[in-house]
Amino acid sequence: MWHQIEQFGDKIVNISAKHPEGIHLLGYSQGALIARVIVQAFPTLKIRNLISLSGPQAGQYGTAFLHIIFPELALKTAYELFYSYVGQHTSVGNYWNDPYHQDLFYKYSQFLPYINNALLSNRSEEFKEGLANLNKLVLIGGPDDNVITPWESSQFGYYNENVTVINMRDRDIYTNDLIGLKTLDKQKKLDVITVSGIDHFSWHKNVTVVDEYILPYLD
Ligand SMILES: *[C@@H]1O[C@H](CO)[C@@H](O)[C@H](O)[C@H]1NC(C)=O
Ligand SMILES: *[C@@H]1O[C@H](CO)[C@@H](O)[C@H](O)[C@H]1NC(C)=O
Ligand SMILES: *[C@@H]1O[C@H](CO)[C@@H](O)[C@H](O)[C@H]1NC(C)=O
Repeated sequence: MWHQIEQFGDKIVNISAKHPEGIHLLGYSQGALIARVIVQAFPTLKIRNLISLSGPQAGQYGTAFLHIIFPELALKTAYELFYSYVGQHTSVGNYWNDPYHQDLFYKYSQFLPYINNALLSNRSEEFKEGLANLNKLVLIGGPDDNVITPWESSQFGYYNENVTVINMRDRDIYTNDLIGLKTLDKQKKLDVITVSGIDHFSWHKNVTVVDEYILPYLD
């Protein structure tokens, strides 16, 4: 993930340089997580609206996504691969968030705990500032996604220790304002949009979604 963020980030820096008035960033699926982290990791970029279309923002734990990339891997033992030196060289390993093995997640994951400021680093301040500078953060997802698991991860919700889904506003990342979500929300700059009846591979193709929930943010 860090590698992809550097690669895409450099391209966006070039585009952004030609548009001093600011640009909007729209990411889909894993690209939505990449887009979000670009905003955090390149805090000098002038990004106005960030639209996250069904991205695993709080992580992923489910076979649907796993099997797109690793068809043979079993859900319950995937952590043995992902929480290792080798597994951290896969993008999904970087945000694999196994609720049954949180100790290993925090120990091995080189990515998600850091960009969500669950573990502090010398970039934590930067990671918080990036999002707080947005004009709007738009989180789009829905219960019929069938790939992002739990689907609430697209809106920063996730499993707790008892594998019950906790919504963003009741999670640490929000209540302690670890990356600026609460700040944005208080300023009415955080739009959380839930759309039913859309499967993961249709979000960017469904005309209703594009017309009603994306285009209004691209003015
Ligand atoms: C953070 O620490 C790493 C490793 O010690 C160092 O290479 C990097 O330059 C530091 N970054 C900042 C922003 O201080
Ligand atoms: C998880 O379940 C255990 C056992 O039922 C309970 O003691 C604990 O409070 C629960 N934790 C949360 C965060 O709900
Ligand atoms: C787009 O999504 C809406 C809302 O779920 C649904 O009613 C509509 O049938 C979808 N359109 C297409 C072309 O699939």
